[in-house]
Amino acid sequence: MKLLVTGGAGFIGSNFILYWLKNHPNDTIINFDKLTYAGNLENLKTIEKNSNYKFIQGDICDATKVDNVVKESDTIVHFAAESHVDRSITDPSEFVRTNVLGTNVLLESALKYKIKRFHHISTDEVFGSLSLEEKSKFDERTNYNPRSPYSASKAGSDHLVRAYYHTFGLPISISNCSNNFGPYQFPEKVIPLAITNLLEGKKVPVYGDGLYVRDWLYVEDHCKAIDLILEKGKIGETYCIGGLTEDINNLELIKKIIKLLGKSEDSIDFVKDRLGHDRRYAVDWSKIKNDLGWKPEGNFDELLEKTVNWYKQNKDWWEKVKNGDYKKYYINQYGSNL
Ligand code: NAD
Ligand code: TYD
Repeated sequence: MKLLVTGGAGFIGSNFILYWLKNHPNDTIINFDKLTYAGNLENLKTIEKNSNYKFIQGDICDATKVDNVVKESDTIVHFAAESHVDRSITDPSEFVRTNVLGTNVLLESALKYKIKRFHHISTDEVFGSLSLEEKSKFDERTNYNPRSPYSASKAGSDHLVRAYYHTFGLPISISNCSNNFGPYQFPEKVIPLAITNLLEGKKVPVYGDGLYVRDWLYVEDHCKAIDLILEKGKIGETYCIGGLTEDINNLELIKKIIKLLGKSEDSIDFVKDRLGHDRRYAVDWSKIKNDLGWKPEGNFDELLEKTVNWYKQNKDWWEKVKNGDYKKYYINQYGSNL
């Protein structure tokens, strides 16, 4: 395969490239990434000299640059996006630009150069919010009901991807996954934020009552699911990819991390809630299990511990990230250094 990975310097994209080159050493990869605040080439240091791998810096909204990399590829895995809900509340327009317009530029190019597969990475957040009382989960038939500028822009991109399949016959597939965790996640998302704050002796900001529920998916399990979709998934199909947890709320999650690091629960700082905060996400992943034989491996507590250990052992990585632009964002978001 001649893969074009967009957003390959981000959290999931870089994990995917490392996974792919390990498991498919004869394939080639072009990593096309704008290197926003979230893109970090250090994640790919171990493979940067691999002759099968090439990095090109560029914006998915730039049609000329996009054409240049698409014409060298036969398969696109599209991760590039603005991905953080809190930032989408402060500046929605960048989300519309990259997630909607940028995806459209890529789709046009994929059509022009007769790409064999365009796989679009999306999120369970497009389905909206479940209540704590109901036991239902999102699946491939759930209606879209996005409620943040982030999820609305991702929903827009999903609709465009499907439209290019139905209208122009572009060979697409889509996956909607739940919250990922693991190595190289930018410390603005809750798990790495909590771990690194605790390692720095700071408090952990918990929004509102902390009873919000996410469905946690280990990033390597996600990469395996994408691999199976590219290998055996049907053109035009959507696959929901869910995680290892059954309704763990943020407070329970943070307490697990506090315990793993031997800290006190006094480190919890209840802060102002996020605007429009979605209460609960849960994903039914039976379709990808039945059709492609995928399931998340391992045990959540063990993978959380593995993740905590990765951050303990890679202080250099996250200290640099936290000392950059993120510091300004952090002070703006939380009002102080906590
Ligand atoms: P991330 O923010 O860590 O990385 C995004 C990458 O895209 C960065 O390297 C950034 O530089 C790049 N990028 C941003 N704008 C770009 C542009 N205009 N042109 C080219 N590159 C650009 O995100 P992530 O957590 O790795 O998420 C990857 C994908 O998975 C996204 O599409 C996201 O919506 C989706 N997703 C993420 C999660 C999660 O828990 N992280 C859950 C569900 C879905
Ligand atoms: P986040 O990692 O931002 O992912 P998403 O919003 O895409 O689910 O947040 C996960 C959950 O953690 C969400 O319910 C918001 C909450 N949260 C906090 O309580 N405190 C924080 O500082 C952050 C960033 C998130």
